[in-house]
Amino acid sequence: MSGLVRFGVSLEKELLEKLDNLRRAKGYPTRSEAIRALVRQEEVKRQWSGGDEVVGAVSLVYDHHRRELINKITSIQHDYGRYIIASQHVHIDHHNCLEIIAVKGKPEKVQELADRLKSVKGVKHGSLSMATTGKHLG
Ligand code: NI
Repeated sequence: MSGLVRFGVSLEKELLEKLDNLRRAKGYPTRSEAIRALVRQEEVKRQWSGGDEVVGAVSLVYDHHRRELINKITSIQHDYGRYIIASQHVHIDHHNCLEIIAVKGKPEKVQELADRLKSVKGVKHGSLSMATTGKHLG
């Protein structure tokens, strides 16, 4: 982290209460830590809405007995191979699998990949966790 700078913040009482509630709920030890987290969160949002490169994780839950679904999921991953940096397959029970796919690349491509995977017929759960390469975040 680069040099620490102190600055004064003026907030309406109500907003300050909201900040403190948020700080407590999320478990940040100080107001400064809560503000840092909020700024980082906004920066990650900005990166996803037009940055050069983002990182994320796609999670899928599906029944592996559905062969067509497996073929489709595999084929999409091959089409977007350059955006996939790792994947992990966990057999949850006799029917269900959890697949976690780490993705990296231009936000619109990564989002497109996630959307295609999530919309495969038979996928029981699909989500994209939007993370960051960590650059420009101090
Ligand atoms: Ni499995």
